[in-house]
Amino acid sequence: IANSRDKLRALQILSRHDIGIPHTVFVRQKDDVIPAIERIGGAPVIVKLLEGTQGVGVILAETVKVAESIIETLQSANQNVLIQRFVSESAGKDLRAFVVGDRVVGAMRRVAKSGEFRSNVHRGGSAEAVDLDDEQRRTAVSAAQILGLRVAGVDMLEGKDGPQVMEVNSSPGLEGIEGATQLDIAGEIVDYMAGQVDFPEIDIRQRMTESAGYGVVEVGILEESDLVGRTIEASGLRDRDIVVITLTRGTTVISNPKGTRTLEPLDRLLCYGKLDQMRSLVSNRRGRRQPSLQPLITDVPSQAIDGNQKEA
Ligand SMILES: Nc1ncnc2c1ncn2[C@@H]1O[C@H](COP(=O)(O)OP(=O)(O)O)[C@@H](O)[C@H]1O
Ligand SMILES: [Mg+2]
Repeated sequence: IANSRDKLRALQILSRHDIGIPHTVFVRQKDDVIPAIERIGGAPVIVKLLEGTQGVGVILAETVKVAESIIETLQSANQNVLIQRFVSESAGKDLRAFVVGDRVVGAMRRVAKSGEFRSNVHRGGSAEAVDLDDEQRRTAVSAAQILGLRVAGVDMLEGKDGPQVMEVNSSPGLEGIEGATQLDIAGEIVDYMAGQVDFPEIDIRQRMTESAGYGVVEVGILEESDLVGRTIEASGLRDRDIVVITLTRGTTVISNPKGTRTLEPLDRLLCYGKLDQMRSLVSNRRGRRQPSLQPLITDVPSQAIDGNQKEA
């Protein structure tokens, strides 16, 4: 939940997955401003306060000069700012998808009052029910899942190359969406929660390390690895008491991969098994230049976001 409260962090996490986000750069000091603006394709740009809400901390800077002076002012007041590509094709409107579980249960388009690019209702915008297309729906659900949210309000701009996630709210209000869509969103949440009773929350890491010597690790497959070109079945992993839980290939995550799946260079395998076996899996073959063995990653290191993977 803290993830989505912090705009920067949510965008950082989403940028590592195949989710469209507006190209965004975090600026620390004045000297960063011009290169940052260049990196996102030049002015006009959106300048955002990290902690802003209801559109208050969102400014459209028409020129580099204006952006520079706004940022300088904000930084002198010790405010952290983001610079974001102005998704001009979506100016004055955005989408709110209300995600419950793995579904969008309702969506609205918010349209700004005239002369305003911010579509926040608090800035005079109005909302109407909208039917999302498949890509928008998929993007909203994925964004919520990646951030670990079972109920979320996912705000997207309608970019020319598809939806661009701006913000993911972990405690979205119901009034606006229920008013616009005439749907019983609260009822959807209650039904979903009731359905979850069969799947009580468990601490996976704790459960999986309960038996001594077992654990979860992520194994990266290097190009020269013996495992390349073999199926999971033929890899010998199961014989060593190692189960592959997920296979990550690029930005795609394959859960419970079938034994017939062939391993490719740069695949990452999330494995459960005996730690010493998994250690030997990495160190036995050709010394140190082997698949890297890392502890289960539950968090991503923070670093500058490099915008929209779809644009790369
Ligand atoms: N990169 C952008 N391009 C175009 N419009 C934007 C962009 N970022 C924000 N907006 C507009 O400004 C509004 C407020 O921005 P948002 O990031 O949601 O701030 P807040 O958290 O204050 O609502 C959005 O609803 C959208 O209409
Ligand atoms: Mg908003």
